[in-house]
Amino acid sequence: MPDSLTVIDNRTGERFELPIAYGIYPNYGAYIRGADLKKIKGSPEDFGLLSYDPAFMNTASCKSAVGFIDGDRGILRYRGYPIEQLAEKSDYLETAYLVLKGELPAPSELAAWKHEVTHHTFVHESIKKFMEGFHYDAHPMGVLVSTVAALSTFYPEARDILEPATRWKQVVRLVAKLPTIAAFAYRHSVGMPYVYPDNDLGFAGNFLSMMFKTTQLRYTPNETLERVLNVLFILHADHEQNCSTSAMRAVGSSHADPYVSVAAAAAALYGPLHGGANEQVLRMLVEIGSVDRIPEYIKRVKAGELKLMGFGHRVYKNYDPRARILREMAPQVFDVTGKNPLLDIAVELERIALEDDYFVSRKLYPNVDFYSGIIYQAMGFPVDIFPVLFAIPRVSGWLAQWQEMLEDPEQKIARPRQIYIGHDERDYVPMSDRG
Ligand code: SDX
Repeated sequence: MPDSLTVIDNRTGERFELPIAYGIYPNYGAYIRGADLKKIKGSPEDFGLLSYDPAFMNTASCKSAVGFIDGDRGILRYRGYPIEQLAEKSDYLETAYLVLKGELPAPSELAAWKHEVTHHTFVHESIKKFMEGFHYDAHPMGVLVSTVAALSTFYPEARDILEPATRWKQVVRLVAKLPTIAAFAYRHSVGMPYVYPDNDLGFAGNFLSMMFKTTQLRYTPNETLERVLNVLFILHADHEQNCSTSAMRAVGSSHADPYVSVAAAAAALYGPLHGGANEQVLRMLVEIGSVDRIPEYIKRVKAGELKLMGFGHRVYKNYDPRARILREMAPQVFDVTGKNPLLDIAVELERIALEDDYFVSRKLYPNVDFYSGIIYQAMGFPVDIFPVLFAIPRVSGWLAQWQEMLEDPEQKIARPRQIYIGHDERDYVPMSDRG
């Protein structure tokens, strides 16, 4: 039997052969081309069939080699490497290199990459003036989205998106500068002076220094917390065609520069259903307040009044492997920071939800945001910066997918069609004739 669909259009009796093609797995990612449907017409003047798939629930927008998720088996791999192995053995910058370049770096490549990133962490001094324009209580994601877009005005050569060397220079700048912008946004919000990057610290340690350094001459990050932050950044680096990555690809497909494309991706990530969920998880746990109030909250969720933030996923219909890693890592954090009382509520909430048919029948498991928020809070990060902590590492995934899109000969400007359900043609009504 050939790898194809035989389609009979019962309107005309016509038969069509639609070839079935595959990614690397015969049983995961078999597809037909949407464009092949266009030849199926009810009549010669017919436009041809479209596939209608709101929210792209079952639509592949691209071919990618960056990340792989098997939602039923709870698998996540970056460039083929299981997330569990990277979380245990790698650090964020090495993983970012892997995500961006496709291979683990050789020692000299890693050293060069770390040197490049370390020496691009500063932002133009005018960025500080730009940030001063925000109210003290501006949400850090609003600051991040605006400031990353503003970076576009400092690097006009970034518009030359088809020149690989120029592209790579912007990749380095964005990976390196997001932590600085994030930390400056936080320091602005608490009225603290900005802390400049410390080139003697690693990526995660430098971010902790820019966030939390006060009067000490040099900030010394706690080793455990620095390691935990590296793991958190690794876990958030890429996640195939999630909402923000799709935004990055769509905006980038118009050949906009990478700064405004990243700003668009960060804007999508800001949404509470996406990267904003970790902030909402914390607010939810604080609202629940105590273990004995969980049943009452669950009742409201099951009544459809609320969503259980940090639960559910479009792809994972099993435990999010990232949530499992964070759940196991949480005690290390609390050994340093002291136990977070919200953890008891989270663990009990998870236990109850995983036994309740409402969640089991809908395959709603904890996702990466369920435990990340508790850990971030214990580490001293304010709740409203949590989505920013998601954006910092995800920029490497966004940029990897942006480059992949630009280098894919099948890709062009993203421009989906629609199913029109509005009025048929009608004539303009002068004001005098309107009701
Ligand atoms: C991230 O895509 C990615 O990969 C994202 C991400 C990444 O790394 O980029 O993994 C990061 O965004 C994780 C998700 C964080 N968001 C949240 O935790 C917010 C709460 N979760 C939900 O909003 C929801 O689960 C989504 C948005 C994550 C997924 O939504 P879907 O796939 O569109 O599922 P759905 O809304 O169609 O839900 C199916 C059913 C519905 O019930 P019925 O209408 O069938 O009765 O499940 C229910 C939903 O009401 N449901 C929930 C729920 N999530 C889904 N009910 C209660 N609580 C929830 N959290």
